[in-house]
Amino acid sequence: MRRARGAQYGPGVDDIPDVPALTGNPDSTTPTTPDAPEDGYFGASVAARYDDPDDGMFSPCAVVPAVDFLEELAAGGPALEFGVGTGRIALPLAHRGVPVHGIDLSRAMVERMREKEGGAELPVTIGDFATTRADGPYKPGDFTLVYLVFNTLMNLTTQEAQVACFRNAAAHLAPGGTFAVEVAVPDLRLLAPGQEAVPMEISATRWAFDRYEVATQSMSSNYIEVEGGRGSYRSIPFRYVWPAELDLMAQLAGLRLRDRWEGWRGERFDDCSGRHVSVWERPRG
Ligand SMILES: C[S@@+](CC[C@H](N)C(=O)[O-])C[C@H]1O[C@@H](n2cnc3c(N)ncnc32)[C@H](O)[C@@H]1O
Repeated sequence: MRRARGAQYGPGVDDIPDVPALTGNPDSTTPTTPDAPEDGYFGASVAARYDDPDDGMFSPCAVVPAVDFLEELAAGGPALEFGVGTGRIALPLAHRGVPVHGIDLSRAMVERMREKEGGAELPVTIGDFATTRADGPYKPGDFTLVYLVFNTLMNLTTQEAQVACFRNAAAHLAPGGTFAVEVAVPDLRLLAPGQEAVPMEISATRWAFDRYEVATQSMSSNYIEVEGGRGSYRSIPFRYVWPAELDLMAQLAGLRLRDRWEGWRGERFDDCSGRHVSVWERPRG
């Protein structure tokens, strides 16, 4: 989620697990975490620190407007969250009485949700949300709402996977149902001519930057940290995507744009918007 320009698209520098040291450790090629590879970039060490009460994304100011918006879109029907994670949005939405199902590939993230009030009951299917079908009490075709927040669409690093994600959302929707996505507008205007990186953090011990490859529309968020004389580096890949390309993906999936806002409170989307909340619907009949 965007904290400021530049954006942050994944676990922040405080959230990253220990990684192979760059300096100062004779065993520096050995990762120190027990993260399971199948959990992707959200393994146990990230999941353990993901819910940060000091992070604005977990404050009621960020969560409540999103939940208000999604509750209204669900219109009394069941909702499906792609990349449900630790239930930051799914749990408060479920507490409002909306039946929520989640899909996520990280068992570690879902285990954190299980520890929270209501988290044990929320049905989750483990798998890739670009292709995985919900297998809980509600089935594909039942959902009035599918949603994907916090830039998680960008975790799909190919156009093919992003298109598949739209098709998977459409396959889960009942006629008239909606697919809502919250995602950043690419920050390319922050690139100085001839440069490919946008700094996110510069301090005596920590540096973070996004790197853009405009020829391939790929980017990465990169984190370097020195702690106790040890250096660590982590890079997380993303695919940035423009609103117009998303509309085309929606069209390929048989969906059409209903609304595009800058945020969950229905703020106007314009040239200065750093993110958008877009809603596509599955036509009736
Ligand atoms: C930034 S977190 C967002 C979690 C939650 N939606 C929130 O708003 O706090 C991204 C989540 O998406 C999951 N994820 C990323 N790529 C995925 C994929 N291709 N299929 C399933 N889950 C994925 C991660 O495991 C992680 O739980």
